[in-house]
Amino acid sequence: MRQIKIKKVLNSSKNPPKLIDQFGRTVDYIRLSITDRCDFRCVYCMAEEMTFLPRDEVLSLEECARLVKVFVSLGVSKVRITGGEPLVRKNALWLLEEIGKVEGLNELVLTTNGSQLEKQAQDLKHAGVKRINISLDSLDTARFKNITRTGELDKVLRGIQAAKLAGFENIKLNTVLMRGVNDDEVLTLVNFAIAQAIDISFIEEMPLGDVDHKRDSTFCSNADTLKILQSEYPLITSAETTGGPARYWRVANSKTKIGFISPHSHNFCESCNRVRITCKGELYLCLGQEDKVDLMPLLRNYPDNDQPLIDAILNSMAIKPKGHDFDLKRTKPAVIRFMSHTGG
Ligand code: 5AD
Ligand code: SF4
Repeated sequence: MRQIKIKKVLNSSKNPPKLIDQFGRTVDYIRLSITDRCDFRCVYCMAEEMTFLPRDEVLSLEECARLVKVFVSLGVSKVRITGGEPLVRKNALWLLEEIGKVEGLNELVLTTNGSQLEKQAQDLKHAGVKRINISLDSLDTARFKNITRTGELDKVLRGIQAAKLAGFENIKLNTVLMRGVNDDEVLTLVNFAIAQAIDISFIEEMPLGDVDHKRDSTFCSNADTLKILQSEYPLITSAETTGGPARYWRVANSKTKIGFISPHSHNFCESCNRVRITCKGELYLCLGQEDKVDLMPLLRNYPDNDQPLIDAILNSMAIKPKGHDFDLKRTKPAVIRFMSHTGG
């Protein structure tokens, strides 16, 4: 049996850490999906026809804000807002402003497909968003459309420029590489990141949700991608870690870091510091497992009393699994829910 190494996690929140699981891991990072909707339909993420949740089954923005405040009071210092596409939710900016004001929170970050950034980047910066991750799988207009089914590359590129103009220093592109689809763009995408002085991460496709293509035939391993990049650039290993599945390399003589997110590797589970909350208020203790606690009833049945919510979150630490298990060769996805439901 593999030993879980207990890592000391420095908690930078003003609130003492209270979320410690049975393996000694401190949870100080939440990823909150604020909508399952998206204006794109990326082939690895969604089916062509999607049925989205009715409005009353999704957390209200006030409920999202309340949840974040409760988690911060329990020692959480970093919040990532995700979706679906978080910026297509009406008044998402109000929520980000509310979260930006929460005492004790150190980092508010956002994952987006970039489609709304042209309009919203400046306001996001004012709201206190520190870092933005933007999905970008291709720099070819037609291919971008094929992958996202509905997305417009130019709009996303203008969004990236808007984010730079707004003064965001930590912009990172997220690229899902698929064999025979966009794996020939590794160098083009990295050259673009270097030219823009931004970072880029390559994500191995995860078996989340039932999509229309066979995932094992398009799978691109990060090990292969790294080899291609090493033959082209001087890469320096970086000790940086976010406690997640990413490993980073720095491109010498540039501002760009290249990350490799390998969800198929188990190596990072032992330092996992995060939990995820779906737009329905389900607290998932691991991206790749079904263990969860429903927080929505506690939010709705006790509108003026946070204690039941606090107790449920504290108790959830006992069921945070040791690790996950993704297998691309399965006929069924390991986890039935889509990434747009749980949040990336
Ligand atoms: N596997 C890997 N990455 C995915 N994303 C969405 N669905 C999947 C999947 N099944 C990515 C998006 C986004 C990030 C948050 O997650 O491209 O960049
Ligand atoms: Fe939308 Fe992101 Fe899913 Fe693409 S990967 S469909 S942008 S939520």
